[in-house]
Amino acid sequence: MIKIKIDGKALEVKPKTSIIEVADKVGIDIPRFCYHKKLSVAANCRMCLVEVKNFAKPLPACATQVMEGMEISTKSKFTKDTQKSVMEFLLINHPLDCPICDQGGECDLQDTAVAYGASKTRYTEEKRVVFDKNIGPLISTDLTRCIQCTRCVRFLKEVGGMAELGLIGRGEHAEISAYVDKSVESELSGNIIDLCPVGALTSKPFRYSARSWELSRRSTIACHDSLGSNIEAHVKDNIVKRVIPKENESINECWISDRDRFSYEGLNHKDRINLPLKREKNQWKEIDWEEAYELIEKNITDIDIKKSNKIGIICSPQSTLEEGFLLKKIAKELNTSHIDYRLLEKSFSENNNWLGCKIDEIESHDAILVVGSNLKHDQPLLAHRFRRYANKRNNFSIITSYDDFYSTRCLEKVIVNPSAYINYLLMILKQVQLSTKYKINSEVIKNLLKAAKPSNEAKRIAKSLLSNKSKAIFLGHQILHLDDGDNIKLVAMHIAQAVGATFGLIPGYANSVGLNELNLNTDNISADKILSQSKEAYIMMNFDPLYDYHSPKKINSALKKAKFNLAISPYISDSFKEFDVVLPMTPFTETSGTFINMEKTIQSFSAVTPPVGQSRPGWKILRVLANFLQLEGFSYDSSEEVKTDAMIEMDKKNEFSLNDFKPSNIERGLEVLNVVRANDSDMIVRRATSLHQNKNKDQSCCLINPTTMLEEGLIEGQKIKISSSEAEILINVKADDNVCLNAVVIYGKQDETFILGMHNKVKIKKA
Ligand code: SF4
Ligand code: FES
Repeated sequence: MIKIKIDGKALEVKPKTSIIEVADKVGIDIPRFCYHKKLSVAANCRMCLVEVKNFAKPLPACATQVMEGMEISTKSKFTKDTQKSVMEFLLINHPLDCPICDQGGECDLQDTAVAYGASKTRYTEEKRVVFDKNIGPLISTDLTRCIQCTRCVRFLKEVGGMAELGLIGRGEHAEISAYVDKSVESELSGNIIDLCPVGALTSKPFRYSARSWELSRRSTIACHDSLGSNIEAHVKDNIVKRVIPKENESINECWISDRDRFSYEGLNHKDRINLPLKREKNQWKEIDWEEAYELIEKNITDIDIKKSNKIGIICSPQSTLEEGFLLKKIAKELNTSHIDYRLLEKSFSENNNWLGCKIDEIESHDAILVVGSNLKHDQPLLAHRFRRYANKRNNFSIITSYDDFYSTRCLEKVIVNPSAYINYLLMILKQVQLSTKYKINSEVIKNLLKAAKPSNEAKRIAKSLLSNKSKAIFLGHQILHLDDGDNIKLVAMHIAQAVGATFGLIPGYANSVGLNELNLNTDNISADKILSQSKEAYIMMNFDPLYDYHSPKKINSALKKAKFNLAISPYISDSFKEFDVVLPMTPFTETSGTFINMEKTIQSFSAVTPPVGQSRPGWKILRVLANFLQLEGFSYDSSEEVKTDAMIEMDKKNEFSLNDFKPSNIERGLEVLNVVRANDSDMIVRRATSLHQNKNKDQSCCLINPTTMLEEGLIEGQKIKISSSEAEILINVKADDNVCLNAVVIYGKQDETFILGMHNKVKIKKA
């Protein structure tokens, strides 16, 4: 520790700390524009200049490290004069357009000018003008207001992972620019709106819809991926006008992904339903709640539930803990164990389906291996932690089939077919076994290991896992979408055990972990099995049966065969044709509930707006439904009461239990890789219009490796017919060498592709 004085206050601080960090810690305010605690230091705005004893010139507090005996004055006349001069200099070219600027009322420049600047300008020359650029549908630019702090540039390079903006020109002519004709496409791009200290970058969807002082700020939890980002919804007239991050260092730091930020646009989409709907002569008819419940009661009580499993219940992994608990309770009362939330899975082992460590512990490992994840789309914000780790430490390896981690420094990057994951892991396990003498009891694995011949990459990955002290192996949730996902998980767990690594799975959705912990599907019956055994009735909650379920054909034919189908959903669309009644539930912003995130942190939230129309929170719908069905034990008055009972029910899973390897018959041949883009993952985000305005041309194409294209006799731009066991589609081909060989990437859950189903073998033919 070293001794310094700041504004006369004696302090002992850690060496190598900057003056601004020390000041922030002790609550001394130093104005700043370019400095941000999460970005590299640029020291180009000079707003943080302070007087330091024995230095003739003022020093930038953000770029100056404390030294023994340093005496810093942040309030002296010298410092104040310096700050005033810098402020005057920064305002020379800044337009006086605060009344029409969207940043007004929450502008760092405005606040700092009032606190540190002069009250009058001495500048009478012409101000410079910079033409605005169109950088996409999410961010609006007014670049004349830019003060060239470069926070946006540094964020996109250091956090977004791609240098999409840059500073061109010098001095008076310096300006922020995107690459020619390019918009900003990072999944985290919206964070530059918060970072920009002036009104140069503002939110396009929010623009001019409210002033900051008209908004009430209400905290909630993002409902898309399993990170559980803390967010703040800004509400005016009971409508969510925008969403910004709420700082939580151990989960989302101070960032959020674009889907968490802009998905609020889907909340009031025209597909929202305000009243229960009943299907009559192939038309939807609005009915009141009483009539809807009576209709459901009549149809459900007609079913002879003495025979078990006459009713199938499927809900989304985004359902809250309270909704899941009530569904499970209803299922029990209706004598069915056919209840599930796993919409995309083909492998169903239930243990270790969480991260295995805390989110903020990820980067403390000395070596990391990730298998089978499109991190950028699956977990846009978590991907940043892996990227930061990889770029800092040369000990990050990834085995995947589509390389969306291109600008990241990896020790090994293995791009192979999903069907080859298992072989790769067996090679690593064999190499590990040679050094550790790790014992495996399974005869099947022993035989497979005999045949495995470790490649050089496998040897290097094994070496990095063996030679480092703390290591981790993470599987993407896509592993569970594969037929041999359980085997992959098992071998990865063996490697983890042999080398003493943390093992984790990165779950897909907001409450995948919560519903797993709740042991929703007590008998571990998969949704696929539920649909394949004929049912009298189905209850489906909070997902689009055709877009969100991996086999639209299977779900549709099961619904057709059932006598009565009930959907509980915020939206209506053609996907709900086979339902008899749809009850309007509220999305996450209009209900209270609980999500358990990937690291098992339990996060409860309250509604930020009242329900739209006569829609009701899911837990209330289920409670009243149970009352109408005269089921016992549903007299809850609040979601907290439901949560209390749910917490008692939480299953203590036997973690790290190694099941046996089940030989599976994996068909080789052209494999389809369904990449679900971050903005297509669920019903709300698919309806957020701005997120889809910039639909990249690639998204209406399928992507194939150029070598595979050559083998299949395909040329770029050609239309091909892709057929799966579900359907066939016509689609253009695009060459992409980020795709593994012998595979075709199709963006899943989109209008053009959903009918193919997900994760099926496909055949391609020239159209
Ligand atoms: S646009 Fe905003 S964040 Fe980017 S350099 Fe200019 S002032 Fe800074
Ligand atoms: S904040 Fe220190 S120079 Fe900009």
